[in-house]
Amino acid sequence: MLTIEPKGPLLGATVTGIDLRAGLTPAEAEALRAAIARHSVLHLPNQAVDDAAQVTFSEFFGTLESTRAGADGEGSKLIVLTNIGPDGTLAAPTARQVLNNRANQSWHHDSSFKPVPARLSILSAREIPSAGGNTEFASMRAAFAALAPAEQARLHPLQALHDFTWSRRRVDPALVTEAEAAANPPVPQPVVRSENPNGPALYLGAHARAIEGWDEAESRALIERLVAFATQPHFVYSHRWAPGDMLVWDNRAVMHRATPFAASGERRRMVRTTVAG
Ligand code: OGA
Ligand code: MN
Repeated sequence: MLTIEPKGPLLGATVTGIDLRAGLTPAEAEALRAAIARHSVLHLPNQAVDDAAQVTFSEFFGTLESTRAGADGEGSKLIVLTNIGPDGTLAAPTARQVLNNRANQSWHHDSSFKPVPARLSILSAREIPSAGGNTEFASMRAAFAALAPAEQARLHPLQALHDFTWSRRRVDPALVTEAEAAANPPVPQPVVRSENPNGPALYLGAHARAIEGWDEAESRALIERLVAFATQPHFVYSHRWAPGDMLVWDNRAVMHRATPFAASGERRRMVRTTVAG
């Protein structure tokens, strides 16, 4: 029987009693949708899926994103996050894929730089290092709820400009080609997302460059203060990966980041599917 056990009061729940390789019944899919809306992050242990099973499972929740223009695997439904190169050995620290993994170590919402950003992300562990390489989540609903009412009211009407080229070039100037920059112009997103019935959430992260209509210094001060506030330990769940783990998270309710690991000595390979808007 499908069981949903909260990991704590704010975010995260463990889901047992289903086998994703056998598909989902409509009742199971509905229970998972409700659990995502409520808990923001679901942990499904012992689901050693392959790519096809992960895509089938993900499509229960909506239309999948295709990997953005200019990225490895462009046009496919799968994003592979790994430090293992095409030849099966560890990639150099300067390889694009390793730099992209480093970009994921900043708090972010997936695809917030797209006009239609990611709703859900589904990530499965295929190879994990012996230490580090956690994925951490910050509850943006809990953070918003903890702000003073006057600040909540001030934030509600604001829009942030999310700029992929800017955020990636902060990690390494060589990480974005001119073609990618042209394909990903900045897009406005609300600073507060109100569509979740369980409460409004802050929406910022690494791609949030500026507040529309504000100057750069004011923008950076506000964004950095709110991200620091929202990522205090009491708002965060840190997931230590085990073989066969799958996580599903609501990008409208949490930011996430990867934690470092010994990337020049250990292997890590994760596969993500992403449900759009
Ligand atoms: C992602 C991501 C972090 C990680 O899959 O979108 O940011 O821990 N992953 O690999
Ligand atoms: Mn991500």
